[in-house]
Amino acid sequence: MKFFIDTANIDEIKQAYDLGILSGVTTNPSLVAKENVSFHDRLKEITSLVPGSVSAEVIALDAEGMVNEGRELAKIAPNITIKVPMTPEGLKAVHIFSLEGIKTNVTLIFNANQALMAARAGATYVSPFLGRLEDIGHNGVELVSTIADIFSIHQIETEIIAASIRHPQHVTDAALAGAHIATVPLKVINQLFKHPLTDKGIEQFLQDWNSSQKNE
Ligand code: E4P
Repeated sequence: MKFFIDTANIDEIKQAYDLGILSGVTTNPSLVAKENVSFHDRLKEITSLVPGSVSAEVIALDAEGMVNEGRELAKIAPNITIKVPMTPEGLKAVHIFSLEGIKTNVTLIFNANQALMAARAGATYVSPFLGRLEDIGHNGVELVSTIADIFSIHQIETEIIAASIRHPQHVTDAALAGAHIATVPLKVINQLFKHPLTDKGIEQFLQDWNSSQKNE
């Protein structure tokens, strides 16, 4: 499973990129709104920083509007992926993008049939939302696993991005469930490093080293 970062913030993207773990970025209108910057300028900046897929979401709700917006966004850089909501209009747009060779990420996936339809419309990625499903008492990890099974049985090449990741256990579970990618906020990426025995081990190694130096 690869890591994407779920943010439109440049500092956060740089921090994750410097770790050497980052294969892409996902943004959404709420994340972009927090930044208070021009969407196009920010996408330019992100795509020049990260060579992998950068998801940029369309705002229009009709297929024609989505296609027009998406075509403009796709001109920004070759690594732009057009993020489209899971609706009938969205799938019409995804189909057109796929014929034009424009990569797509179908977002707001909450059941397996939505994922299957998005894949058949030609989506490059589908994004099931784990955290938001769990907020309403459903099992997000099980959904990822079901989608992974269906894609495997039917040899579907669309990749699964586990989204709405809230904590480190989601990352482990998504990897085991067969997600190709997890898009993770920086806060959770930083939590992935943490283990008390790692900190304790470093402290002990340093202590031992320093006391051995005093004896020399
Ligand atoms: C995915 O692409 C979305 O941007 C994101 O994961 C949504 O997460 P949230 O439910 O924490 O807003």
